[in-house]
Amino acid sequence: MELEVVQGDIATSSADLIIVNLFEGTTQPTGATGAVNEATDNFLMDYAKERDFTGKELQALAVHHPAGIKAKRIIMVGLGKPELFSPTVARKVAAKSIQKARKFGAKKVATIVHGAGNGNLNPIVAGQMLAEGLMMGNYQFTRYKTADKAKLVAKEVEHVSIVESEASKLAALRQGVTKGEAIATAVLNTRDIVNEPPSKIKPIHLAKAAQEIAGLSKTITATILDENQLKKEGYNALLAVAAGSEEKPYLIHLHYKPKQSNCSIAFVGKGVTFDSGGLGIKPWNAMLTMKGDMAGGGTVLGIFQALAELEAIGQPITSEVHGVIAATENMISGKAMRPDDIIETKSGKTIEILHTDAEGRLILSDALTFANQFKPDYMIDFATLTGAAIKALGRAYAAHMGNNRSLLELIKQASHETGELSWELPLPDFYRQYLDSSIADIQNIAMKDVAPGAIIGGLFLKEFVGDTPWAHIDIAGPAWDEDGFNPIYSKGGTGFGILLGLRILEIVSSNEA
Ligand code: BES
Ligand code: ZN
Ligand code: ZN
Repeated sequence: MELEVVQGDIATSSADLIIVNLFEGTTQPTGATGAVNEATDNFLMDYAKERDFTGKELQALAVHHPAGIKAKRIIMVGLGKPELFSPTVARKVAAKSIQKARKFGAKKVATIVHGAGNGNLNPIVAGQMLAEGLMMGNYQFTRYKTADKAKLVAKEVEHVSIVESEASKLAALRQGVTKGEAIATAVLNTRDIVNEPPSKIKPIHLAKAAQEIAGLSKTITATILDENQLKKEGYNALLAVAAGSEEKPYLIHLHYKPKQSNCSIAFVGKGVTFDSGGLGIKPWNAMLTMKGDMAGGGTVLGIFQALAELEAIGQPITSEVHGVIAATENMISGKAMRPDDIIETKSGKTIEILHTDAEGRLILSDALTFANQFKPDYMIDFATLTGAAIKALGRAYAAHMGNNRSLLELIKQASHETGELSWELPLPDFYRQYLDSSIADIQNIAMKDVAPGAIIGGLFLKEFVGDTPWAHIDIAGPAWDEDGFNPIYSKGGTGFGILLGLRILEIVSSNEA
């Protein structure tokens, strides 16, 4: 799908389908929607009234073969209440609009920019949200559809003209659209990696993806620690989880080092390419979606791809960034890690294994130790760590927790600004006693039913970050979409965390924090 910013009047567009919008409660639209309504001799608004279209957020109205304009269809999307409007709403509206356009088989679409007029969005931001929403909303994972593929591909929108009448806004709009395209490209690539089946994306493929991303930019390097190096250097927690698998583990280090930098951040990702549970095997239905247990690693890859893309379009992030991914499978064999085993981690701390299915925290213990050697200003891990996080907050919200108030506030702000929802959980020391082991420094699960699972996961990780300002983002819920809460997502991997991570980088890079 090609995006192009053009100056003009959408009412006279020669596209198959045009997209306009309406704030909730508006009866006499102005601007581009007003112009289209006038061209139809007020039919658009009459029809809206007849169909009870009030402009509620994400409400969509289709007008077929409208008289007075060239396009075969008009889609009008609701922007919701003006006082609740935000960049996030603009992105969602764009996603919804392209899904509607695709449904009607439109090939050439023209759209106005949501929020650039009455919504008072800065045209750069409005352009970015529009491009992100169009691309993210248009995403489908069709690689393995053979029978239906022709049907699906036939429905692809080929070209979107982003139509703006005011010449003075064009440059800013183009800048935003280019940025949105760069970021969305990274998100969609991560979705592909998460959605690929577990026999296609193994630990080695995450390492290869990291190398490919490093190949996109001179500012990024990728260093891969293989099994021999991991053994030599004592990354025994990662090795223990990998022991039951035929696939070799990798510790992946991406490093973005721009000439000018205001801050350094390390992003650490859980890259379990399939989580069977190990000897504490999951029931068959809980194992479904466990190809997505590498989503945290996918988020880190996506952040780095976006860093490369943003640099390529001349809008680089000015912070130093480390990306660390612990990549392995959690499988079963005669060599698999056992309950009762004790692991001596890279940090020197020992872990008693009570449950082989609490493997994410094990590999992250070594990955966090690795990342900490760079002494980053902030360290943030993304991990599909616990089912308990889903129980607590559902699929729409991640759960974040950490040891540093300013970092937690930074995550809250970035979450609010990007619409990638995350809710803070407390991380009180008194729950740490649930992890006291009688034989090692720490055990990997709490044995009490009343212990709060998502928080226990966080407390476990906290043992391996020293004094570094750190936060853990449990993305078990939002890394995977199944209920369609948000039109920017489709069933399967979402790429959650990339927008959040990039926003954090933007804030710290410009010292806005
Ligand atoms: N990968 C899972 C967590 C998960 C569950 C992610 C559902 C996405 C959807 C993780 O490795 C795991 O199995 N966690 C256990 C921890 C328990 C044994 C303490 C869990 O949540 O049940
Ligand atoms: Zn597990
Ligand atoms: Zn897992």
